[in-house]
Amino acid sequence: MTTNRTFTMLKPDAIENGYMGKILDMIIQAGFQIKAMKYTKLTTEQARKFYEVHAERPFYGELVEYMTSGPIVAAILEKENAVADFRALIGATDPAEAGDGTIRQYYAESKGRNAVHGSDSDENAEIEGRFHFSANEII
Ligand code: RTP
Ligand code: MG
Repeated sequence: MTTNRTFTMLKPDAIENGYMGKILDMIIQAGFQIKAMKYTKLTTEQARKFYEVHAERPFYGELVEYMTSGPIVAAILEKENAVADFRALIGATDPAEAGDGTIRQYYAESKGRNAVHGSDSDENAEIEGRFHFSANEII
């Protein structure tokens, strides 16, 4: 079953580089509806938990440090086929491999500092959305 929802974070490099408005505009223009959104900063504990699946990877420490280095925007987005369509909109993890017109092609600095997160499955979209928002924050 597809839920038609995905979860995103505008990562610290995107905010630091002044791309918050431009990226949100691309998301809205692509037809995603914002169901919940907050400007916040992850604690080390939150970042470690969020990226737990990567705990054994060599870049995990760097990833946690980066994700806690400044504010982020977290949001739940809705659209038909949300997870796949959003992954298409953001492009490949490494901006050098991201397709034309994708958010990462325009705004990511590198494979590590890549501007935006997008859930990789309906199940993870649900888990990640709940991680950041309570039911009464979702409109
Ligand atoms: P995300 O989960 O943030 O949407 O990114 P993704 O699916 O495209 O990539 P994933 O494999 O899940 O990796 C999560 C994040 O870890 C950082 N990373 N750094 N230095 C590296 O080789 C490396 N590889 C991954 C990136 O910030 C990536 O988005
Ligand atoms: Mg991922």
